Amino acid sequence: MKISAANVDGFRQALLSWYDGHRRALPWRAGRGLTPDPYHVWLSEIMLQQTVVAAVIPYFQKFVEKWPTIHELAAANQNDVMESWAGLGYYARARNLYKCAGVVSQDLKGCFPAEQVELKKLPGIGDYTSAAIMSIAFDKPATVVDGNVERVISRYFAITEPLPDSKPIIRRYAAALSEGRIDRPGDFAQGMMDLGATICTPKSPGCGQCPLKKGCQGYELDIQSELPKRRAKKDKPQKYGYIYWVSNEKGQVLFERRPESGMLGGMLGLPTSTWEADKKDLKHEGVFTKAGFNANKALKIYHSFTHFDLELSGQHADIKDKKSFSGVEWQWIDTKELEKLGLPTLFKKFVRLMLQNNT
Ligand code: ADE
Repeated sequence: MKISAANVDGFRQALLSWYDGHRRALPWRAGRGLTPDPYHVWLSEIMLQQTVVAAVIPYFQKFVEKWPTIHELAAANQNDVMESWAGLGYYARARNLYKCAGVVSQDLKGCFPAEQVELKKLPGIGDYTSAAIMSIAFDKPATVVDGNVERVISRYFAITEPLPDSKPIIRRYAAALSEGRIDRPGDFAQGMMDLGATICTPKSPGCGQCPLKKGCQGYELDIQSELPKRRAKKDKPQKYGYIYWVSNEKGQVLFERRPESGMLGGMLGLPTSTWEADKKDLKHEGVFTKAGFNANKALKIYHSFTHFDLELSGQHADIKDKKSFSGVEWQWIDTKELEKLGLPTLFKKFVRLMLQNNT
């Protein structure tokens, strides 16, 4: 389907007037007609990468309460930032968030650049986030394409090619609707997101209330609910590993700070073995080689990451010379503190299991 200048105008006007009446009140949004704080926009957009709005809201509120400005976030202890992020997943985002805060606070006097190429030079900011910041924080035209926008555009233009192959086509339509349009770029971007989240939903879209019903090719052909199509997903590979529970006479449990690179990098967690595709390759390594084990097959936890599923088998381990486990890498934590600790969900699951078992 071709899109003319008149079609673009009609689409934008219909969306913007719907947004005026139906915009969601979200904590990072400025009131109607007010300029949002770029720090809030950036923080929310990093959190919203791969995470739904409802899950992000309490984290966003906690962060701005603890660190009201980017200078305060940059001056925070990195481990404190990681612990506050725990549970949101995709921990590289938190490491980059902290790095980015440092650069913006120190090198840019706390001001985010208002140019997309400059924004993309900052840690953790790519095509999507730079476009979102440009439009929402600075009200400048940019092509913002997230999952909501992909769905709205696939349906409106009846794009039947499956994702991800259809991404370039979707992007072309999104650009045609945004580029060079200086009338309310931020509201347009957020209007597309809100429409996708509340009306043009993945299942049972509310076409009856949709401001874009007139002109929506998917609706006209009655194929809107089947769109966007997706290429069949491959089955996720399975991985296996051991997870260790080491306690001392003070009722404390041994934790390690995971290395910066790799899965859950920089996070505090219970020690684990390497994670292997074949159970036969599992072994106890490093300090756990000589540990005394009491493996309990019932103490298993299961966790799904984006690219694989993980099964960890719990092991009570007793290590020699416990006193040498201290410093930056190792921490003994009181059992009573465990429930409130900022831990990735994977470790929370094991902690709960162990506490329920009265370990
Ligand atoms: N999803 C990603 N960014 C968003 C935003 N700014 N508002 C609502 N939903 C979003």
